[in-house]
Amino acid sequence: MFKVGLIGAGFMGGMHVNCYKALSDKVEIAAIADVREDAAKALAEGTGAVVYTSADELLRHPDLDFVDICLPTYLHAEFTIKAMESGLNVFVEKPLCRTSEEAAKIVETQKKTGKIAQVGQVIRFWDEYVWLKEVTESGKYGKIKTATFKRFSSYPDWAAENWLHCFEKSGGMALDLHVHDIDFARYLMGEPKEVRASGLNDASGLSEYITTTYLYDGAIATCEGTWNYPKEFGLTMAYVVEFEKATAVFNSGTGKFCVYPKDGGVENVVLDKSFEGDSDIGGNISSLGGYYNELEYFTRRLADPTLSDIASLSEGARSVELALEGYLKV
Ligand SMILES: NC(=O)c1ccc[n+]([C@@H]2O[C@H](COP(=O)([O-])OP(=O)(O)OC[C@H]3O[C@@H](n4cnc5c(N)ncnc54)[C@H](O)[C@@H]3O)[C@@H](O)[C@H]2O)c1
Repeated sequence: MFKVGLIGAGFMGGMHVNCYKALSDKVEIAAIADVREDAAKALAEGTGAVVYTSADELLRHPDLDFVDICLPTYLHAEFTIKAMESGLNVFVEKPLCRTSEEAAKIVETQKKTGKIAQVGQVIRFWDEYVWLKEVTESGKYGKIKTATFKRFSSYPDWAAENWLHCFEKSGGMALDLHVHDIDFARYLMGEPKEVRASGLNDASGLSEYITTTYLYDGAIATCEGTWNYPKEFGLTMAYVVEFEKATAVFNSGTGKFCVYPKDGGVENVVLDKSFEGDSDIGGNISSLGGYYNELEYFTRRLADPTLSDIASLSEGARSVELALEGYLKV
């Protein structure tokens, strides 16, 4: 049984607590910290977790195996570094941190301390995207020629003190939302030769819409994101990937998930779904899916550190760099 101390009892903290409840044979929620005591207490209800109003105090809680950092992005670096330096393993939400300089310090600290860590680049664990990665590596449909990834969201209005809408704290949509597809495109297709971007920022410079294009030899990836749609829209993520021998399509909004072979026909893809519990925490996400998968995988890595580091801190660091590079090109 691994004891977790969770820092940040907001939207993602709630999601992770639901996942740990579903993982109760592996994880005990030992402590929860939030500057908003009511939020921490509400989340701790029924878990037996000790509540703290200071993240530093939580780091001193005895016998923790790891901390789970669900703080606003601008606080990730401080507490990821402090946790590893205190001897704790770390799961930190995406984006890894707010700036490239912070990212380098985090990666350096992990090297120095040797702690097990993972960044919440959850799309690497999302069933339909895991399938895409596997089918690409199998070579079944040949090489990728073009790939388009989309992420369209309603305006995220839940953040404590509206930190998401402060560029200094969140990096705006480009770093917060778009980073999911940027990270996955590079995970799938490798380091691009060139990055191009266009988009729209609000009057304060906060990105609202962005399209990032990655150029490769003989292939191209385009990622498009926005978080300005009406509340009722929720979240849609989608991809269309054109291989040499077929085109794969996924759209979470319509439920379409299929392959069009080049020589005709349509093959629907049906997966054995991993944990699909209702997230029950509001926001724009309705199932535990990839969040459960990534945390379950992290507990397996704690038990067996030789397992592959699918969402390593250095991968998270590179995705922060690329997201900010795209934003600066808008
Ligand atoms: N993986 C995903 O799909 C996904 C989705 C949403 C958010 N996120 C990420 O999760 C992180 C948290 O986002 P959120 O939407 O949960 O935000 P949120 O505002 O809902 O929650 C953040 C919590 O941290 C608390 N907090 C702030 N400063 C603190 C401090 N110094 N000490 C202790 N607690 C403090 C706040 O009171 C709040 O409860 C962000 O980095 C965000 O990018 C990831």
